[in-house]
Amino acid sequence: MTTYVLTSARPYGGDPRDVVLRDGVVAGITAPGAADTAGATVVAAAGLMLLPGLVDLHTHLREPGREDAETVETGTRAAALGGFTAVHAMANTSPVADTAGVVEQVWRLGTEAGWCDVAPVGAVTVGLQGERLAELGAMAESAARVRVFSDDGHCVSDAVLMRRALEYVKAFDGVIAQHAQEPRLTEGAQMNEGALSGVLGLKGWPSVAEEAVIARDILLNAHVGSRLHVCHVSTRGSVEILRLAKERGLDVTAEVTPHHLLLDEQLASTYDPVYKVNPPLRSAEDVQALREGVADGTIDAIATDHAPHATEDKEGEWAYASPGMLGLETALSVAQLALVDTGLLDWAGLADRLSTRPAQIGRLEGHGRPVAVGEPANLVLVDPAARRTVDPAALASKSRNTPYAGRELPGRVVATFLRGRATVLDGVLA
Ligand code: DOR
Ligand code: ZN
Repeated sequence: MTTYVLTSARPYGGDPRDVVLRDGVVAGITAPGAADTAGATVVAAAGLMLLPGLVDLHTHLREPGREDAETVETGTRAAALGGFTAVHAMANTSPVADTAGVVEQVWRLGTEAGWCDVAPVGAVTVGLQGERLAELGAMAESAARVRVFSDDGHCVSDAVLMRRALEYVKAFDGVIAQHAQEPRLTEGAQMNEGALSGVLGLKGWPSVAEEAVIARDILLNAHVGSRLHVCHVSTRGSVEILRLAKERGLDVTAEVTPHHLLLDEQLASTYDPVYKVNPPLRSAEDVQALREGVADGTIDAIATDHAPHATEDKEGEWAYASPGMLGLETALSVAQLALVDTGLLDWAGLADRLSTRPAQIGRLEGHGRPVAVGEPANLVLVDPAARRTVDPAALASKSRNTPYAGRELPGRVVATFLRGRATVLDGVLA
């Protein structure tokens, strides 16, 4: 196995160090120029940030069932190029990942592809139907060792089912990741509810439909003493509820997507369905509150909600287009732009929200570990000074629905290492 010496890299954006990767682990960290490079592959890393490999709590890989939009192979290539060493694969596939058989299939496909670790998410309810609990225990005990359960795409809106799910996963330290969306309040909804939805004539998705479910679930979770995680938080009110809960010592974690940290509802006025997503892009005020929520730790993690869609599902009339946007290959750049370049977070903080905390929430041992001697060499090298213009045709994802087409973004992933093996070198798949 190749030994790598990353010369003059900056761990967490700090002082330059030479970092030696050997036999799958960080074997040495020395002053610049002090590492033994004999027989090693040298990666010139002056000016590059060295962070723990990114961990995504929320990726749609679409396999099985919609291999025309994405496969485990193409989605994990996109992940590696984005700096990720582990992704959680959402359960809304076809068939739904609601049995040990399906989660093991996804896990095995991820292992065979080898671009990053794939941790399958198990459905909470059979077929995402919200009627009865899926085989949570069997999925937890399967080879996939599922710890995160979610009906994402759908809300577990029945309070009794949600309570039972939270109780059930305590036995194996699982977590319920809730897609918080009160279904009756959002029937037919197309965009954020507000003055603009009225002007555009698109049915509104009110903030309260998210906030009411989050408040209910925090209380339910406090009652049963389990683990609740809130997917893709999108409103200022949600941040306020989470902040209050954490101040009271209640156990809840939350994520926000890169697109909700950068884009706002004004884009809906283009009627270009590339901007249609669930939850919808919100107001500029919401975007600012979300950024502040990440900065002060109220929001634990940034998670992509990478949602590839085939062209025929995404192009056409807004009302009929599928919601969702690509995220894996642009997440780090968008997070840099929204949080680091604005001075809200430093690189260590960004590593915490994009790696350490998501790995802890998902209970992924070996990921999100400190950049330190003896730790698994799951790492990403980033050039923060680089700039690139996003070209949809050049993405590794099988789909093209990026909202950043033609946009210049800061930062570039130079290399990604999975247990000491380069999956990306010089910005291309290794
Ligand atoms: O925009 C979204 N797309 N939100 C979801 O909750 C599901 C996802 C998808 O599966 O496409
Ligand atoms: Zn969702």
